Parts: sequence; structure tokens; C-alpha cells
Amino acid sequence: MTSVDKPVSHLTPVRPSAPFSTSVVNGGEKPPDSADWDDYAQRTAARKKAPDWAVLREARASHYRDFFRIQPGERVLDAGCGHGEYTVFALRDGARVWAIDTSKAMIAHTRRSIREAGVRAEAVSEQSVLDIQYPANYFDVVMNLSVLETLNDPAAALRELVRILRPGGQLYLDVCNAVAIHWHACFRVMQFLRMGPAGHMRYFTPAELKTMVRKTGCRPIEDSGMHFCPPFSGIYTADLRRFTILPESLIRPLDRLYLAVERQARRHWPTRLLCHHYILRAVKQS
Ligand SMILES: C[S@@+](CC[C@H](N)C(=O)[O-])C[C@H]1O[C@@H](n2cnc3c(N)ncnc32)[C@H](O)[C@@H]1O
Repeated sequence: MTSVDKPVSHLTPVRPSAPFSTSVVNGGEKPPDSADWDDYAQRTAARKKAPDWAVLREARASHYRDFFRIQPGERVLDAGCGHGEYTVFALRDGARVWAIDTSKAMIAHTRRSIREAGVRAEAVSEQSVLDIQYPANYFDVVMNLSVLETLNDPAAALRELVRILRPGGQLYLDVCNAVAIHWHACFRVMQFLRMGPAGHMRYFTPAELKTMVRKTGCRPIEDSGMHFCPPFSGIYTADLRRFTILPESLIRPLDRLYLAVERQARRHWPTRLLCHHYILRAVKQS
């Protein structure tokens, strides 16, 4: 059994520097490079597959089911695929999927996730979203999830993502949300207690992201949010498992409550605008 497969005990105490957000990569003093992402990939791979993370995996899967509209046979690019969770979601929907990332370790994890899911991607390759090696108008759908906020020049990345999207094609963007004030307050307390997270490159307001998207010739269609409940909110059950010795039988009903709250929060205004992740679906205009 490799370290990636090894289950993490529900009672594992959290280490002071353990990252709590998927966007925390280095100290936040500099933009993360591919070495930072390689390191992050190795640190988080085991946790992403661990039993105590199941509820967060389900939160992402149910968000995908509720919000993403990907049809069988569509050509999809997962740009900045990370561990490949969304690559696998789209493949399971019957789409033809290409995945790119600049981190070798992330590419390896995506290939492994695809293999373990028993599906097949068109290609998984090391490429930057700033210089994509596919022709203009090539894809029906482009997903760029939790990547823009880590880049020095998100506008340049957005132009490149739109270049390879066909007119009428769908663009999915996920960014860290500047309006999620209860999350920011929670992060401040965690930083004060030296529990991380150490910092993000940047946050976007929903309005900022929509303006950027319009400038590239796309029309925002629909938005959503993910992760309304902040860490330590009591129903953020991954934390309950790490910090308490409550038996599974007590935490499991809270999992259902957590998922129900998340589901309602992302569907309704204004709670969907207060989630830690802001997700936008846009269409490229002809
Ligand atoms: C926070 S992870 C998100 C992964 C995945 N999209 C998800 O939502 O689970 C950010 C990913 O973007 C990748 N990345 C960062 N800069 C990139 C670039 N210029 N081109 C392609 N991928 C990049 C990182 O290696 C990392 O895998």
C-alpha cells in the first residue's frame, strides 16, 4: 500500500501547518510555481482519498451534478486539472476529456484517478493555461477550477482559455470569493492561532470575475457557490473528525446535515455569493 492509498485515521490530530483550503500552497509570499504544486499534490493526495474526506468529496460531486451541464461526446478541457476530480466527473458523464496541468505530480495523480475510475481520457499532459497547445475553437467546454486565483496574470489565462473554446461553448470558472466574509474571519482566527492557512494569491468578487469574463467576449449565464460552512462551524464534519473522538455513528447524521446545508446554500441568493468558492458558467459569444 503506497502513502497515497493509506487511509488516514479519523482521530489523526491536525498538524499546525496543515492546509485547510485547496488553494493554500506556499506561504503566500510568492505565486506558487510547479514545484510548490508538486509538493502540495503529495501532501494532499492521501487526505483527498481518506475516509474522513468522503463528505467533502461528496460535496464536490453533488455540486458537479447540480451545476455542470456536460453532454456525452462533448470535447472538454480540464485546464489545471489538479488531482483530476473534475476530469473524472466529466469522463463519467461520457464526455471526451483532455486534462492539462503544469505540475508533474498533479498529472500523475490525474492519470491515477482516471485509471482507478476505470475511464479513459483523450490526453493528460503537462501544459500551462497561459500557452495551451490546442487550436483555436477546439473545445465545447473549458473548465478552469481554482486556478485563476493562483496566477500572476489571470486575465491572460482567461484570454487563452477562451481562444481554444468554440463560439457557443461553455466556460466554467471557479475562484476564491472575496465576499465570503465569514470564511475570511475564520482564516484570520486560524492565522492568529498559527494553524494556517498561510495565504492566497488573490480573491475575486463575483462582479470582478464577471467583468473579466465579459472582456474576453463571453456572457455569464449562471453562478453558484461551494463551501458555505467554514471550518470549525460545527457541521464542517471533516474538522469534527479531526478534532474530536466522537464516534462515526454520531458524526454521520451531521454529514447529511452538512451536505443539505451546502446544497441549499449554493442554490439560493445571497448564500451562494457567500460561499468560499464562487463558480461561474459563461458562454462564448459568436
Ligand atoms: C487548487 S488546484 C485545483 C485543481 C482542480 N482544478 C480542482 O479544482 O480540484 C490548482 C491547480 O492549478 C495548477 N496550475 C497552476 N498554475 C497553472 C498553469 N499556469 N497552468 C496549468 N495549471 C496550473 C496547479 O498545478 C494545480 O494543480
